[in-house]
Amino acid sequence: GGYTLLQARNVISFNDLKEKEYLLKVKEHFKNKKHTYFVETYGCQMNVRDSQTLMGMFEEMGYEKSADRQSADAVIFNTCCVREGAEDRLLGNLGKLKSEKKKRPDMLIMICGCMMQEVGSLEKIKKRFPFVDVVFGTHNTFEMPKLMFNALNKNKQYSLFEKESDIIEDMPVLREKDVFAFINIMYGCNNFCSYCIVPYVRGRERSRKSEDIIKEATLLVKNGVKEITLLGQNVNSYGKNCDISFPDLLRELNKIDGLERIRFMTSHPKDLSDDLIKAMAECEKVCKYIHLPVQSGSDRILEKMNRHYTREDYLTIVKKLREAMPEIAITTDIIVGFPGETDEDFQDTYDLYKEVCYNSAFTFIYSKRIGTPAAKMEDQVECEKTRERMARLIALSEECSLKSNEIYLNNTYPVLVEGKAKKDENLLCGKTDHGRTVVFASEKDLTGKLVNVKITKIKLNVLVGEIVE
Ligand code: 5AD
Ligand code: SF4
Repeated sequence: GGYTLLQARNVISFNDLKEKEYLLKVKEHFKNKKHTYFVETYGCQMNVRDSQTLMGMFEEMGYEKSADRQSADAVIFNTCCVREGAEDRLLGNLGKLKSEKKKRPDMLIMICGCMMQEVGSLEKIKKRFPFVDVVFGTHNTFEMPKLMFNALNKNKQYSLFEKESDIIEDMPVLREKDVFAFINIMYGCNNFCSYCIVPYVRGRERSRKSEDIIKEATLLVKNGVKEITLLGQNVNSYGKNCDISFPDLLRELNKIDGLERIRFMTSHPKDLSDDLIKAMAECEKVCKYIHLPVQSGSDRILEKMNRHYTREDYLTIVKKLREAMPEIAITTDIIVGFPGETDEDFQDTYDLYKEVCYNSAFTFIYSKRIGTPAAKMEDQVECEKTRERMARLIALSEECSLKSNEIYLNNTYPVLVEGKAKKDENLLCGKTDHGRTVVFASEKDLTGKLVNVKITKIKLNVLVGEIVE
């Protein structure tokens, strides 16, 4: 059955797939003997969410979580290829498993995710790491139990996608935190920014049906979730060929009783409509926070990047966002050293950063990705120059972070508590509506609770506060 449904609606339930039966087959393979898994995740939040599906499947196959990579019976690397660094880390960690696999040939070593979908990647793995048992891509996570079952029976398994799959609903998932949940609303990307490999490895844009998203969110809230983050490569273009627009999806989710906060990422400036700004402002559950990658402040570079907006367009959006929501936090991504970037181009980026005065930013050195148009562009920028520009930008971003957070000083905000602060066990940490991290002292463990905190001090990347009764 399922496939008929799939052709009609392009959506299929995992429950209708024969692959699901392998969850039990793998479990039975171990005959009550304890078996453990380890999931290593690189890359973005989409990958974090995908790894929760991998963990959910492991749990249903009777695996328990292993404390470390080395001693696990099954290790899976969920890979990223957006920049070179993520790839290098994978190759290093794979190498470390070679001797362990020799000692314990029954150990399963698996790789999945974006990097595996890169042209030539599988061949590279086969050649350099022939001990890897299973490889699959970004569209066939549902096949994992079957591939594992075959691999446990000594057949290596390689399965990548050539054409994107349909949307598969109802896959197992293990969410680690009780009050926060990621929800995919769309998959893939149609933008083809000239530097970016993602459209090649994640395929074309596909939106989930709004009814499935709302059903999932409602169920999560029933189980105690207070904050959902809607995920997609470009959430603003959600809903093309679909029943509702992204702003309307927000309005629908805003109606869910018991849900406190709605976040979303990532947004593309070219698709950021006035209606979205309106929906953000009018929906009390939608956080007054936006991650809005600008990438560059130079019109010349933006054009070469194929971003479809100008510096002026971007600044207009920022102005509209702040008019509608005066306390909104804005963060961004910036690429330094894109091919052909001159001192002047960089200065444009620097000035734009200063003008917007972002709350924080991810700054990346351009990384050449084979197969993208930018990889063929001339004038790759010298290393030394890029590093200098990067240092200037980071200094500015620290300045802006302190300055932009000042508006929160002496005000009291509801903070959703995440747990103990990383740097000080005696403090708790959580986030404001604007996504700003707040640390504060508390006698009680208030993890998962919403508490009112008055901001008393602004530090780099963190606000310090005290609980208000
Ligand atoms: N080099 C450097 N940074 C990149 N990004 C995407 N592709 C590249 C690349 N080839 C950055 C962009 C994007 C973020 C997720 O990663 O800034 O917004
Ligand atoms: Fe990395 Fe992009 Fe894949 Fe996310 S979608 S894991 S950033 S390559």
